[in-house]
Amino acid sequence: MKNILISTGHELKYPDIIRAENCTLHDSSGNIYLDLESGVWCTSIGHSNPRITEIIKEQSGKIMHTGYCYLNPAVEKAAVRLLGITGINEGRCVFLNSGSEAVEFSVKAVNSFSDRPYFLTMKDSYLSAYGISGQRNPEEWIAFDWINNDRIEDIPFDKIAAFVFEPGSSSGLVRFPPLDLIRSIADKVRSAGGLIIGNEITTGMARTGEWFGYNHYGFIPDIAAIGKGLGNGYPVSCAVISEKVLRRLDLNVFHYGQSHQNDPLGAAVACEVIDVIEENNLLLKCRQDGDLIRSALNKMKEKYGIISEVRGKGLMIAVEFENNTSFSYAEKINRELLKNNIILVKRPGYEIFRIDPALTIERKDIDYFLSAMERIISNMKILLPD
Ligand SMILES: Cc1ncc(COP(=O)(O)O)c(C=O)c1O
Repeated sequence: MKNILISTGHELKYPDIIRAENCTLHDSSGNIYLDLESGVWCTSIGHSNPRITEIIKEQSGKIMHTGYCYLNPAVEKAAVRLLGITGINEGRCVFLNSGSEAVEFSVKAVNSFSDRPYFLTMKDSYLSAYGISGQRNPEEWIAFDWINNDRIEDIPFDKIAAFVFEPGSSSGLVRFPPLDLIRSIADKVRSAGGLIIGNEITTGMARTGEWFGYNHYGFIPDIAAIGKGLGNGYPVSCAVISEKVLRRLDLNVFHYGQSHQNDPLGAAVACEVIDVIEENNLLLKCRQDGDLIRSALNKMKEKYGIISEVRGKGLMIAVEFENNTSFSYAEKINRELLKNNIILVKRPGYEIFRIDPALTIERKDIDYFLSAMERIISNMKILLPD
């Protein structure tokens, strides 16, 4: 693969994956891997989901791409479904291509009419790979450090255009800020005339056992940015804009056009993903599977003392290991898991695993992972360096 540029900053582990099915990846030598990270949180209803394969065939056989001057009923249908599940009932949707783009679109839209100088977000938010939200210029962004107890009283609420709230993603470390804190910030932002943008790129589409991460916090944002799991691996995202924002958005001033905006193929996929989640009751399954995994990991925490914390909601789970001065538990355990062909995310420099499988994960795959974890942790002594 010497012709491919890898610029992600992440190690390339498997250069030869030729096929995938639900939570398994297959290489050309016949090896099968258990994928517990669902392709960076994207394959919400499993790799090669037959319903998605079918809808792609069907929609692309009719029309997959339009352009600025056309619309298609598949896009309207998906918009109606998204307005329904987000609770942003009187709003409008714009379909885009990546999570970064949906966040960036949302921020740019607010910037086009607000004369306030700041956006507010949590210091550990990820937001976007590029643009205003990716760069997060300190002259335009207030980064609230909730972990190190920044004070709410220090936020200049009357100068905040919007609070971009990322529930629980925390740059991939799965930390959900406390309910009271977020409710208090959200209330104060709104009372002072600011808006709330929900960055639901990772927490959306049932990942946390609710449709959206903000459902755990008891409010509906003014704009919801949705991506990743919305396309089950197909690059479609969406900014859902409430009527409150639409009233202020002057479409003679705010222009945002790119070639694949509101494409029928992406919209058809998004609609099918929503149907599959609903028809298979995956919100409930997600909560149950998440509880099962967290409870088993917590038992290991009590029994072996190597794990310091198990956290998360639904199937968005993080396991943090104790710090050890002579070697990294997370690194060693991850290496052993890889020998068992189990893939999860170990962020470099952190003693943390992230586990976020497809919502359709089978019980046998959960059991395989949990028994491998327990075997490896209980054998930790023989893994220790001499
Ligand atoms: C919380 C969060 N927001 C936004 C993004 C950007 O999404 P994308 O990589 O699809 O552009 C990511 C990506 O990991 C993310 O984790």
